[in-house]
Amino acid sequence: MTAAGAAAEILYRAPGRQPRTGIVLGSGLGGIADRVEDAVIIPYGELPGFPLPSVEGHAGRLVVGTLGGGMVACMQGRVHGYEGNGFAALKTAIRALKLAGCDGLVLTCAAGSLREEVGPGRLMAISDHINLLGTNPLAGPNEDSFGPRFPSLTDAWDPELRSRLHAVARARGIDLAEGVYAACLGPSFETPAEVRMLKVLGADAVGMSTVPECIIARHCGLRVVGCAVITNLGVGLGDGPVDHDQTLRAAGAAAADLEGLLVGFLEGLNDTGSNQEDGRRP
Ligand code: HPA
Repeated sequence: MTAAGAAAEILYRAPGRQPRTGIVLGSGLGGIADRVEDAVIIPYGELPGFPLPSVEGHAGRLVVGTLGGGMVACMQGRVHGYEGNGFAALKTAIRALKLAGCDGLVLTCAAGSLREEVGPGRLMAISDHINLLGTNPLAGPNEDSFGPRFPSLTDAWDPELRSRLHAVARARGIDLAEGVYAACLGPSFETPAEVRMLKVLGADAVGMSTVPECIIARHCGLRVVGCAVITNLGVGLGDGPVDHDQTLRAAGAAAADLEGLLVGFLEGLNDTGSNQEDGRRP
């Protein structure tokens, strides 16, 4: 089983650093991994079955060490559905984090805002998602050892962990919005008509990632919390066109806030002892 092989390799390469929280860093947000102390850096290419990202802004390495006083495994770089390689490698990576000892997963991403009052540079806690990828990472034979055939996505975005995120934001003076994240396949940005549709559907932000990781993680019982960095207003809501360079620049500018939020969140987990949920794990 590849996920078990990758987990064994992580623990072998990072002795004494069994991770408790996995972190996925989105476009332009990889710098947060530089804050990890006593870090062991493992290129994805050296972890069996891990994905090889092809997108600028995604480094493709796992950084294992201490952040906010807790042991973390940071995925610096992710894969996207639009890369066209399916989700097998992503499943391996998330499940390897679980097998290596993680019980929680923090997902970050860049996103376009569908609410004019939540503009570029703001952070948005993800309260729920709408999967418009046209596929599901769990399609295909179920791997029963990881989770059920028909996993529930009620409270997929853990309410308790999210309220901790809000508490940290309040304590640190960080302006944290909250909303529903819609995942579109990409790689083209949305049309203005699609953005209007997404608003009608009840989405507050749109991006091309994050939902597959959440689904895979919930299937295997990881608790999930997510924060989107708003890099632009959705196409047609703002002034000009949207492009990837703008995404990387805006994400970089908001990275300090996100970093503060994540470190505070991890410190809180550490203080309270655990991010384990009682009685809700499969
Ligand atoms: N749409 C989709 N993905 C994105 C956007 C957007 O406007 N901004 C950053 N990632």
